Amino acid sequence: MISLRKSVLLVVPLALIACEGTPTTGDDPPPPPDPQEVFRFETFGNETWWTDTLRMHEVIETAVDPVTALAVGLKVDMDALPPGLLDQADLTDPATTVELIRRNAVLGIQGEVDDDGRLTRVGIACSLCHSTVDDAVMPGIGRRLDGWPNLDLDPGLIVSLSPFFQEAQAQTVLTSWGPGMFDPRFNIDGINDPVVIPPAYGLKGVPLETYTGDGPVSYWNAYVAVTQMHGHGRFEDPRIGVSVQWEDDLVTPLLDPLLEYQLSLSAPPPPPGSFDPESAGRGRAVFERAGCADCHSGPLLTDAATRLHPPEATCMDPTLAERSATGMYRTTPLRALWQHAPYFHDGSAESLSDVVAHYEACLTLGLTQEETQDLIEYLKSL
Ligand code: HEC
Ligand code: HEC
Repeated sequence: MISLRKSVLLVVPLALIACEGTPTTGDDPPPPPDPQEVFRFETFGNETWWTDTLRMHEVIETAVDPVTALAVGLKVDMDALPPGLLDQADLTDPATTVELIRRNAVLGIQGEVDDDGRLTRVGIACSLCHSTVDDAVMPGIGRRLDGWPNLDLDPGLIVSLSPFFQEAQAQTVLTSWGPGMFDPRFNIDGINDPVVIPPAYGLKGVPLETYTGDGPVSYWNAYVAVTQMHGHGRFEDPRIGVSVQWEDDLVTPLLDPLLEYQLSLSAPPPPPGSFDPESAGRGRAVFERAGCADCHSGPLLTDAATRLHPPEATCMDPTLAERSATGMYRTTPLRALWQHAPYFHDGSAESLSDVVAHYEACLTLGLTQEETQDLIEYLKSL
């Protein structure tokens, strides 16, 4: 528990200052972790991977100025910065990136900076992939939007900058993913088949998480925190032959607050005027008639509570299903579709009209042009 408190405090310097004058005795229970801070800032001790093994602190300090950081999809929280700082900052100097990290302003990048301005430790948090900003200052800089997938983020390219991954095969794989894509199974099975980073909002009531329905939210959170982010914790699933057991477990005690925060994130409603309500109303009936509602059923538009589907049921590429614990695909709950193109686990549909074209070809729906348009408007309204 002591090291857990320490890591939370390290990433929130203000909290440390606030605590200084408050004497505590050894018997005081630690304060309960703040669910939002866990999601935004917690690294689960993964600095041992990102710093000691990948040496990303050196990469950032020597090569990642803010222009580069924004170009690889990193996002900056304007509310963490004093007014005027950005106007004066040199966006072509890596020292500015280090200063942004010191101020805890780069989403999902948690660092420690010493008195000489050197970045000494760096780790990552869930918000790296599952948050973005509203671009209020400029593209990539604005207010936090927790739970929104960062579809500009190029995790493969970022990791490929590490001296640890300079060997040609790793370079080829990591630089092949592109923005918004990540393969959370590559380091487990060696297969290169990246998936779209999904939203972490709108999951309340959804019984099974991930494209392949491997388990509930906390199952997947533990998997990612331990096997992908390289946090110190425990994860075991004989179905996929994975067992990682750290002696210090910084993950398990934080699964409940993480779950609580994710379930509090509701899907963002479509912006006013972004769809035609009358056409969407007709599209809803098309959705039922065309059989979409057979699988996208109930209030969350998924039948995940009762069944999963073999890849051929919806003409999906089977690779990801074959790599997973279930061998099947979960009917994706449809929420805020306006917000997170591309669609399907592999991003094979660039737009909602591509989605409908996919189903038309797969299930021979026989929709007229007008019905197709109405169905698309309905999907935009969800
Ligand atoms: C490097 C990027 C990355 C990081 C960091 C990351 N995730 Fe994810 N997350 C993904 C990808 C990619 C998937 C899709 C995996 C799949 O479905 O097979 C995913 C899936 C999920 C899902 C399932 C969504 C759904 O619709 O079923 C949840 C929930 C989630 N992540 C939460 C988290 C939490 C909490 C953390 C921190 C412990 C985290 N993620 C860290 C990339 C990331
Ligand atoms: C047999 C069950 C089934 C039917 C019928 C079905 N779907 Fe799906 N749907 C799925 C599954 C499974 C996925 C996940 C596929 C993937 O990610 O590769 C999915 C994914 C989607 C997605 C992508 C969501 C996202 O966030 O990426 C959309 C949109 C969608 N379906 C719309 C429809 C529409 C519109 C219809 C009717 C024309 C329909 N579906 C019919 C099972 C079904």
